[in-house]
Amino acid sequence: MRIDVVTIFPELFEPFAATSLIGRAIEGGLLRLDVHDLRRWTTDRHRTVDDEPFGGGGGMVMSAPPWLGAVRELCGDRQVTRILLSPQGRRLDDRLVRELAQVGDLLLMCGRYEGVDERVRELVVDLEVSIGDYVLSGGEVPAMALIEALSRQVPGVVGLADSVERDSFRDGRLDFPHYTRPRVVEGLEVPEVLVSGDHAAIERWRQKRALERTARRRPDLLGSDDGEADR
Ligand SMILES: C[S@@+](CC[C@H](N)C(=O)[O-])C[C@H]1O[C@@H](n2cnc3c(N)ncnc32)[C@H](O)[C@@H]1O
Repeated sequence: MRIDVVTIFPELFEPFAATSLIGRAIEGGLLRLDVHDLRRWTTDRHRTVDDEPFGGGGGMVMSAPPWLGAVRELCGDRQVTRILLSPQGRRLDDRLVRELAQVGDLLLMCGRYEGVDERVRELVVDLEVSIGDYVLSGGEVPAMALIEALSRQVPGVVGLADSVERDSFRDGRLDFPHYTRPRVVEGLEVPEVLVSGDHAAIERWRQKRALERTARRRPDLLGSDDGEADR
């Protein structure tokens, strides 16, 4: 999977790209992540990427020319899905992650300030993606969330494919509870079945707990809304 990112803060991606599963995926050639400084496509001495909004009002707007230059140069003749991170976009969820994991190369565009000039959306954006109904100061954290979720779909990035398949939201339910050593923590014991060695019984217990938990916390996933909150 190849992902290009355009941002005015490329340095934010340095530790991200060097750490844990993402770092290993890049090193092992499973993921290609190229981060570009938007200012490379500016033409003035101050490398300006923003300007005052037409119509007045507060804040600055990212101007179109650097974005158009960046997207066109980076995509060239390649088939690339160009995504603008935006609170106004389609809400990111497991379904969208799986869809995007299938479409091939991606270009992620990280906005700042009041956002990007509307004509950028019209001319070079295929899809806008939001990570939730709240506003962050930039698209970098949303881009990292998307990259991390996508990377888990690339075979080999997560050591055990089974663990991805059993994650929350697969099969429309939440994950079951997990335990590790020590066996007793402040008087709380690991459920007996998990140390029984009976794999069929363990599997049944996990399925049951996953369903119970989903019904309580996220009844919407099971197609009903009448569960009680348990968070
Ligand atoms: C301060 S926000 C601009 C918000 C814009 N004025 C609005 O209200 O829709 C600056 C940039 O952060 C990014 N951003 C902020 N919140 C986001 C979210 N929930 N999901 C994805 N990107 C977000 C976008 O790239 C956006 O252009």
